[in-house]
Amino acid sequence: MRAILKESTGPGLVMKDMPVPEPGADDVLIRVLKTSICGTDVHIDTWDAWAASTIKPPMIIGHEFVGEIVEMGSHVEGLKVGEIVSGEGHLVCGKCRNCLSGRMHLCPHTFGVGVNRQGAFADFLCLPKTNVWPVNPAISQDIASCFDPLGNAVHTATYFDVLGEDVLITGAGPIGCMAAAICRHAGARSVVVTDVNPYRLELARKMGATVALDVSKDSLLETEKLLDMKEGFDVGLEMSGNPAALRQMIDVMFSGGRIALLGIIPAEAQVDWTSIIFKGLTLKGIYGRKMYETWYKMSVLLQGGLNIEPIITHRFPAESYREAFDLMESGKSGKIVLEWD
Ligand SMILES: NC(=O)c1ccc[n+]([C@@H]2O[C@H](COP(=O)([O-])OP(=O)(O)OC[C@H]3O[C@@H](n4cnc5c(N)ncnc54)[C@H](O)[C@@H]3O)[C@@H](O)[C@H]2O)c1
Ligand SMILES: [Zn+2]
Ligand SMILES: [Zn+2]
Repeated sequence: MRAILKESTGPGLVMKDMPVPEPGADDVLIRVLKTSICGTDVHIDTWDAWAASTIKPPMIIGHEFVGEIVEMGSHVEGLKVGEIVSGEGHLVCGKCRNCLSGRMHLCPHTFGVGVNRQGAFADFLCLPKTNVWPVNPAISQDIASCFDPLGNAVHTATYFDVLGEDVLITGAGPIGCMAAAICRHAGARSVVVTDVNPYRLELARKMGATVALDVSKDSLLETEKLLDMKEGFDVGLEMSGNPAALRQMIDVMFSGGRIALLGIIPAEAQVDWTSIIFKGLTLKGIYGRKMYETWYKMSVLLQGGLNIEPIITHRFPAESYREAFDLMESGKSGKIVLEWD
């Protein structure tokens, strides 16, 4: 089968012929139809410090996919050959306190598809039955290939109640843009999205942001006035991973405001602790997707009219992966789908 892999340490990827994985008794073999490129895949391609300390080549990369079940192990029930599925890319232990309590997304023994074990950027992917998520046929396969990051957006955007609230989203990457659509759908009064990249800000507008603001040029305080906000933002979703964005968010939150942190802020980042304490802010770290409440929520939100179509800006045949990764790394894209069918 064709597979995109990190063959050895250092930057770059190759497409190579690899053996089709063999499903065990509890596994499902999936013929991959479409995959989408994640920031994680970009880190692995460019071989940054995180990738160098995490990835053990040779490794087939990728974890965002949609495909068709072609084979099932003898212990698999409730799924069908031919069914269209996506899947959770975090494989959990199923035995620890968090797993047994239904908090599987917080399992400390998690393995990542395309990170710690062979991934989805290939003609076939083998997954444990518990990680397979059947996709409603009404949902397009392009969108289904983005369930993983959509799940990050849904998990973060639904953590705090946004109905009638003024919401600030820092970072108009694919996840920030999808979160903007979700907050509008969920009844926020206004959704302000910030970034420093004009392409991404335009995408945020297409996804329903009330205002998309270039913080390298324009003032967030002026925007608050324009939107007739009296005291500051009620809910903040940090989706840039940039310490300056988090500092700015803390600065413009209303007292008692709530912040959900998805972006991976570096350990050494400085924030104004006095503001956090005196404003009585709540900060909540968000990891992955709830298994499987987030998967349920995103499926029904899409069926109920949540429109995230504009987030898919480009499609490439899998063979053109190099061009697709270069475009992703340029910052001039939303989600990029690789077609395997
Ligand atoms: N916690 C988790 O489980 C989890 C899962 C997936 C992704 N993430 C993280 O979530 C974040 C969002 O993911 P993504 O794929 O959309 O990332 P992305 O890197 O594509 O988007 C981040 C955006 O932030 C913008 N940005 C940079 N500086 C800024 C500033 N000062 N103010 C506002 N915006 C600024 C960038 O221009 C970019 O468009 C990333 O940090 C990613 O690592 C976390
Ligand atoms: Zn991802
Ligand atoms: Zn566990």
